[in-house]
Order: sequence, then C-alpha cells, then structure tokens
Amino acid sequence: MRRSDFFKTALGAATVVGLSGFASNDDEAIRPLETWPRIDAEDEQFWKFVRTQFPLTDERAYMNTGGLGASPYAVIDAVKAKMDELEKVAETGRSDEPWKDVKTAAGQLLGCDPTEMAFTRNATEGINIVCNGLPLKRGDEMITTTHEHVGNVVPWLALLKREGIVIRLFEPSTASAQENVDRVEKLISKKTRLISVPHATTTTGQILPIRALSALAKAKGIWLFVDGAQTAGMFPFSLHELGCDAYATSGHKWMLGPKETGLLYVRKEMLDVIQPKFVGAYSDGGFDLVKAIFNFHPTAQRYEYGTVSIPLRFGLGAAINFLQKIGMENIWKRNQSLSTRLFKGLKSIPYVSVLSPESSTERSALVTFKHEKIPFGDLQRHLDTYKLRTRGVGEGGVNALRISTHLYNTPDEVDRALEAVKDAYKG
Ligand SMILES: Cc1ncc(COP(=O)(O)O)c(C=O)c1O
Repeated sequence: MRRSDFFKTALGAATVVGLSGFASNDDEAIRPLETWPRIDAEDEQFWKFVRTQFPLTDERAYMNTGGLGASPYAVIDAVKAKMDELEKVAETGRSDEPWKDVKTAAGQLLGCDPTEMAFTRNATEGINIVCNGLPLKRGDEMITTTHEHVGNVVPWLALLKREGIVIRLFEPSTASAQENVDRVEKLISKKTRLISVPHATTTTGQILPIRALSALAKAKGIWLFVDGAQTAGMFPFSLHELGCDAYATSGHKWMLGPKETGLLYVRKEMLDVIQPKFVGAYSDGGFDLVKAIFNFHPTAQRYEYGTVSIPLRFGLGAAINFLQKIGMENIWKRNQSLSTRLFKGLKSIPYVSVLSPESSTERSALVTFKHEKIPFGDLQRHLDTYKLRTRGVGEGGVNALRISTHLYNTPDEVDRALEAVKDAYKG
C-alpha cells in the first residue's frame, strides 16, 4: 500500500468509528504482509506485525469476530481501488475471469471445486437458497439443533409455516462427538430428508462431527446441510472431506472479507437437486424465449442473478489471499493459542463456568462462559467499560457471554478480558 493511501485509509477509519490513536501506527503498518521474512505461528512479533495490517484501534479490544470480522487494509484497499476504477467508466466490472479467480481461491481455501461455489451476500442468503431449493414437502422431516443462529432458524420455520415440514430438535452435547451423532440418529425416521447443523455452533463454538454426520446421512439417504458461518477462515478444512451436500458461510466474519459477502458451496451432484428459485442474468446456461428453451448455468453460478457489487467480490478475493499468505494452519494455531489461554484463564475464576467444550478437537476460537453471580447482560456491560467488545448469547437458552479470538487479537487483550471478568465480582 502506498503511504498516502495508508493515511487516507487510517483517517477514514478513525472518522467512522470516532476514535483516535492511529498516529501511533508507524511505517510498519504500510509494509505489505509478504515482506515479513519467515512466518512462524509461535512468533509474537509476527502477530504484532499482522495486527498492523488492520485499521483496528488499540483502544478497544475487538473480540466479536463471531459477529463480524475486521478487514485488513489489503481488503479495504482492494474494494476502494476496484470501485475507483469502475466508477471512472461506470461499468459493473463483471467478467468471467475475476469471477473464476476468486472462486478458485475460495475453492482452495475451503477444499472444493470453484464450480461448486456461488457468491452470496451473507450466510443467511446461502441458507435460504438451500432451504427454499430443496424439494421438501408437507410432512418431510428435518433434524437440527436447539443452538442455531437465527439465520439458520427463520428460513426453516418459514418453510414449516408455508409447506408444513416438520422440524425435529436435539441439544448439542459437549460430552462427546459421538453423543451428538447418537442424538441425531435417534431422531431419524422414515420421513427424515435433511440434517441441518452448524459446523461450529454460534452459542458455545462447539465444532460438530460433520464427517461422522455425513457418513450417517449418506447411509440413511438423507441430505446434510452445514451452516459454516463460524468456520470458514477460522481453521483449515476441506468441504470434500467433510462430505456435506451444501455449506453456507459468511465472507465478513472469520474470512475478513468486506461486509455483505458470503459463499455457498453446493456439491456437484446436488446442483440439480437444490433448485435455484431467485434467478436472472448469470443464472442461466443459455435460453431461448421464443423456443421456450432454458438451461441453468452448469456451475453453482446458477444461484447468482442480476447486478451485484463487483468491488465487494474483489475484496473477498483479497481477504482469501490475505488468509492464504499467512496460512490457515498458522491462523488456527494462533486462534487456538489465544482461545486456550482464555479458556484456561476463565476456568480459574471463581463462579465462572465455561460452556465451550473441554475437548480441543471440539473447541473453536469462540469461548462462551457464564458467571454464577452476574446475569450475562450485566457482565457484558461490565466488560464494555473495560473497552472489550464481546457478544451475549441468548440462543438455545444459553444466556452467557461469548468471546472470539482471531488473528488480530493479542494475548494482552485476552488477559484484559480475564482481568475484567475477575473484577466483575468482589464478593
Ligand atoms: C452460525 C451462524 N449462522 C448464520 C449466521 C448469519 O450470518 P450472516 O449475517 O452472514 O447471514 C451467523 C452469524 O452470526 C452465525 O453465527
């Protein structure tokens, strides 16, 4: 990034959030990520350098990536540059090449073919495409958890209301991964058509055993849909290895992309099963109105339609590039190191109970906890006074507080959060 651009960006960000303090960002901030000599996930200096890649202020610890992620300058600049370029000629900028490039990068990040990827505006849009596109009819049953985010609840409830599908629920168990598979299996009946679960729950961040659920679903001839809003960009995985039929995620959380970006994966063999319902320009693979001939686009592009913001798609590409430069393995190591520090620290505080799983294979970079003496809303307000941005979790009656740790968070911020929780109760 050019120095002048950096200052423009920093100034803009400071104006928007009404905070100062960016002047302390020295030349380090304008050094591109690739100038760092050797990436080592154990190297605190490297992560300090990573932090300078974001306009995030040091005055507030932003610990709500599960809600929205912060974008690095690389993303903000990519969006601005594309917008500047396109507005000079007033074109949409739509052409197949960049489309393929960003989807290829997304496919590499998430372990699938680019032709199985559709751009969406958010995870909820992807969920709606699957929910409304599957051939589900009155009396068909689906299984889901009691810990869903509203985005993966309301579309199904609307379908229940409209078409009369039946929703069967299980509460995710932190006892073991197998216990969750058993709970799902117990709910399967002859009418079950679909299992819809989050990859990691929005409530406690529990990573669910998708591969095992996929094997179960396949054995029973049931579809498996995964709400991946909380996992793309948090840790490395391959959608083909997970084996689900469809997966929807946000680009604006752990992926660090621009707000209002998302990706929908539909397994090749499911493209003709999940019917596109909102269609238009770009959804088709050729048509002739006079002859009444129409084909869907052969790829998941069939779920896209009409004019969209090209700068945002380029920004998502820049975000994927940013993640790939650091490497998902390194990012996951960092996230785990921060969340484990938080998890262990919280467990040592009197009256605090941590709801996120003990098992390191089920625990994500979302850590959720409760204070026996303080309602979670009050605790969140207390943490606000320490300039800590957290998120209250009311879903599933969990009534707790959730802290997200991503690559831009620091051990100091985690310690600040722990101190604030300790100070919340003086009894
Ligand atoms: C598990 C889960 N699903 C869906 C969503 C909705 O995401 P979006 O706002 O991108 O639609 C969220 C957002 O927090 C989430 O946590």
